[in-house]
Amino acid sequence: MPRDLILAPSILSADFARLADEIAEVEPVVQWLHVDVMDGHYVPNLTIGPAVVEHLRKATSLPFDTHLMITDPRTYAPQFVAAGSESVTFHPEVDDDPLDLIDRLHEMGADVGVSIKPAHPLSMVEELLPHIDLLLVMSVEPGFGGQSFMPEVLPKVTEAAAWRDANGGTFRIEIDGGIGVETVGQAVAAGVDTFVAGSAIFGTPDRIAAAEAILAAAHAARPSG
Ligand code: DX5
Ligand code: ZN
Repeated sequence: MPRDLILAPSILSADFARLADEIAEVEPVVQWLHVDVMDGHYVPNLTIGPAVVEHLRKATSLPFDTHLMITDPRTYAPQFVAAGSESVTFHPEVDDDPLDLIDRLHEMGADVGVSIKPAHPLSMVEELLPHIDLLLVMSVEPGFGGQSFMPEVLPKVTEAAAWRDANGGTFRIEIDGGIGVETVGQAVAAGVDTFVAGSAIFGTPDRIAAAEAILAAAHAARPSG
């Protein structure tokens, strides 16, 4: 049974002065909202803290797919869960005991993901795969929206899907970076079931049309629709 396809617009490319309105506009057609958290250390950019998530939680019922590009997820990931994030994803190489952090976040009731940068092999997170709800495969270097999609990461997606088939894992496979109507199809064909799109949605005047076009291209790329 194929997983439902999920589109998670990244609010990184939205107008931060009008976040609630920007989210309300896409809410009728998308499944999740992707919240990019950057600390100025793991990546050279600063974005959103738990207080923003706490306020946004009251403005929408979309699940928050919170992507922590930070060096201290052990301190801050629980704060994002407490603020209302249904799912938190961190880059596990920054923590001494990522499995313990996954367990702690699960105990708080959150779904938990781990993310791998373009240069990271799947083997880097293989021992975590039985324990996660989401594998986020970065298809750009983390840090900024609006970069070009890196198709060379797609074999890793296929490898992860094969690992899941062989080992009975339940995690979703998400792709993040440079996704739009031109690139989502190849990602879905490779095995992605969840896709982030920032500039391809919030960088266009008609966000609904952009989101619908990405979802249509994704469904068209899957034999089962
Ligand atoms: C990059 C972020 C992405 C980014 C995607 O570090 O993790 O989520 O916002 O933006 P686009 O879709 O514009 O590449
Ligand atoms: Zn992201």
